[in-house]
Amino acid sequence: MKTRKPLVAGNWKMNGDTVFNEHLLGELRASLGREPLAAIEIAVCPPFPYLAQAGGLLAGSAIERGAQNVSDRPNGAFTGEVSATMLVDLGCRWVIVGHSERRQSMGETDDDVCAKLTMAAAHGLGIIACIGETLEERESGRTEAVLARQVDALVGAASQAQRGGDVAAPMPAERFVLAYEPVWAIGTGRSASPEIAQQAHAFIRSRLAALAGEGRATRILYGGSVKPENAGSLFAMPDIDGGLIGGAALIADDFLAICRAAAAHSGVSVER
Ligand code: PGA
Repeated sequence: MKTRKPLVAGNWKMNGDTVFNEHLLGELRASLGREPLAAIEIAVCPPFPYLAQAGGLLAGSAIERGAQNVSDRPNGAFTGEVSATMLVDLGCRWVIVGHSERRQSMGETDDDVCAKLTMAAAHGLGIIACIGETLEERESGRTEAVLARQVDALVGAASQAQRGGDVAAPMPAERFVLAYEPVWAIGTGRSASPEIAQQAHAFIRSRLAALAGEGRATRILYGGSVKPENAGSLFAMPDIDGGLIGGAALIADDFLAICRAAAAHSGVSVER
C-alpha cells in the first residue's frame, strides 16, 4: 500500500498564451471544482511570464503553481534570470530543476542543478528534480550509473537543505520530489513500459535509502509520454508516485484523466 500522496505536475514547457491559458486553466478549475481529487496534489508549471496570470485564474483552487527553472543567484545583475524570491512573491509552490531539455540544450550540469535546488530550498520552494538516462546510456548498460550519479548529487544538496545546512529553514521531506524522466521517452510518444519505469524507480528509491537512510517518504514521479492511455498502468506500480506531464498537460481532458488515474492508485484515504 502506497503511503505517499501522488503529485501530478504539468510541465507546459514553452507553450501557451493568455487566451490559451485562460481556457485550459478554466477547464481544469471547473472540473476539479465539481470533482475534487483530494487524494493527490496537482500543480501546473506555465512559462515565467504567465505565472501571475495563472495565479489569478487559480486563486482559491487547490491547483498549485510551479516554475520551470530558477536562478542560482539571489538577485542583481543577471540579465534574463528569474530569482527564487520572485517565484515566491508570485505565489509559486514548486520549481522544476534539472529537466533534461535544460541539461542538454543549455548545458546544465549536476552542479548547476544542485545550486538551483539549494537556492530554491532556501526560499521554501518545493523542488521537482529531474533525472534520467539517454537512449545511448540505456543501450550501453549505463542507466543505473547515470541515475546513481544524478541522485547522489541531488540528494546531497537536498539533505543539506533538509538539515537546515546553509539555508534559512529546513526543507520538509515532502517538498523534495524526484522525477524520473528517461530522455528517450520525453515528447517521443514512446513511454517507458510500467515494468521498466518501476525498475528504475525501485533503483532510485534504494539509492535514496542508502544515502539518506529513508527512501520511503520521498515521492518519485515518472515523466515521458504519459497519456491517459498509459497513466493507470504506470501509477499502479509500487514506486511511481505520480507524474511530470508535458504534452498531455496542455489538453484539459487528458491532464484531468491522468490526475484521475493518479487518484485511483493513490492508496491515500481521503476524509469526505
Ligand atoms: P512529455 O514531457 O510528457 O511531453 O513526454 C514530459 C517532460 O518533459 O516533463
